[in-house]
Amino acid sequence: MPLVKALIGYAGQNIVRFHMPGHKGFNIFPRDFLDNLIALDITEIPGMDNLYLPCGVIAQAQMLAAKAFGADHTFFLVNGSTAGVLAMIMATCRPGDKLIIPRNSHRSVWSAIIIADVNPVYIQPRYDKENCLVTQISAQDVERALDENPDAVGVMVVHPTYYGLCSHLEKIEKIVHERGKLLLVDEAHGAHFIFHSDLPPSAGELGADMWVQSAHKTLPALTQAAYLHVKGDRVDLRRVAQIIAMLQTSSPSYLIMASLDWARFFMESEGKPLIERLIHEVRAVKSWLQNHTGFLIIDDYEKGEEIAALDPTRLVLDVREFGITGYQAERILREAGIQIEMSDMYRVVLICSVADDKRAFDILIKALNNLAKRLPDCKVGKKTSYDNMSISREIPRQMLSPREAFYSIIERVPLEKSIGRICAGIIGSYPPGIPYFCPGELIDKDGVEELLYIQRCGGVLFGVEKEGLIPVVNTKA
Ligand SMILES: Cc1ncc(COP(=O)(O)O)c(C=O)c1O
Repeated sequence: MPLVKALIGYAGQNIVRFHMPGHKGFNIFPRDFLDNLIALDITEIPGMDNLYLPCGVIAQAQMLAAKAFGADHTFFLVNGSTAGVLAMIMATCRPGDKLIIPRNSHRSVWSAIIIADVNPVYIQPRYDKENCLVTQISAQDVERALDENPDAVGVMVVHPTYYGLCSHLEKIEKIVHERGKLLLVDEAHGAHFIFHSDLPPSAGELGADMWVQSAHKTLPALTQAAYLHVKGDRVDLRRVAQIIAMLQTSSPSYLIMASLDWARFFMESEGKPLIERLIHEVRAVKSWLQNHTGFLIIDDYEKGEEIAALDPTRLVLDVREFGITGYQAERILREAGIQIEMSDMYRVVLICSVADDKRAFDILIKALNNLAKRLPDCKVGKKTSYDNMSISREIPRQMLSPREAFYSIIERVPLEKSIGRICAGIIGSYPPGIPYFCPGELIDKDGVEELLYIQRCGGVLFGVEKEGLIPVVNTKA
């Protein structure tokens, strides 16, 4: 049982978790829930309602969630925000429809576009060149995209990003709704926002028509637990319900659904003071780092006008000053008993939640202090090679729709030999972490050269297979 062994081994190491799920492995769940975990894993027996035709306890739990999150209707999801993103797009777009999406969308957006045969109109998010960080889309860019595409169905926004960056969603909402379009929000990382006024406003408060939240990322809920919320009358609820039933398992986990009910109840009853404490703890770590070490935090970056707010519970540390990469910092922290959520070339990203106690933050400060002290020994001199990195601002020419490209005869060619071909995958790099080429787009020389340059500098390419091959359309087949 290699997987069972590995999981038990990880749990036994008592590693401090700054990664999701937001319950952090602690006994934050009610005793009755924990003691009966296996007994509670049931199926749709009488009295337990049915996720896809709810009229009993699931309907009640969803109603309470809708009230708590400011929605008119909430759907429980057992396949994460991934299912919610798919459902939002599939329920609102017909084949051939245009949807405006940021280029830094989650990959589930492309899955939906391919399945539903939607034509994406991309908005390139702004790029902080100094810090090699993709930030957010601006309200002006949304306005321009809508003016140029008056036939688009709506706009999708990521709010906040993995790094906790929020766009001016309130301005975007006005622009979108003035034109009678739909506002769909991927709030996978912002399920906690509604529970405290010191957090950025949530998509529901800012007028989204539909928004999805991964409860498992920032709330005490089980992995895969997510909410899909709908507000107003622009979206056909019955259509959404039908699509969710198509996308998810016909045997939804009662444990996951119960954890959605629990997370809502817990946050409503105890969330506010716990978030207050969390913001305080994260702020204390940040100011300690600023005063005692050379760590830069994302809060120190100069913010562009496209950024409205930062999630104060997200800890993003920049390790460039020490001459190491974020990947190396992640490894060093793991050796010190801390597992973070994600690293990129420059930074480490830590997910903090109401389940983190003071002890976790104390251990973190100690580990970061040790790391800062030993860093002169592990300098790798990467910093300068990245100083001038940019991203191509031009979005490549769309030759085929993503669906046409996906269903073409595909061949695999080395990236360096792909110039002039039509991309059949999603190819990009970290940094900057957004696709250079999406399905159906013409692969150009500048883009390929930039990707190869980033790779030479130590950046990581995504969408490129082990042998350095990428999928392209075989136009001769
Ligand atoms: C912005 C964004 N949207 C959607 C998702 C998908 O969420 P889930 O893992 O709940 O399916 C993720 C996952 O990391 C994400 O970062």
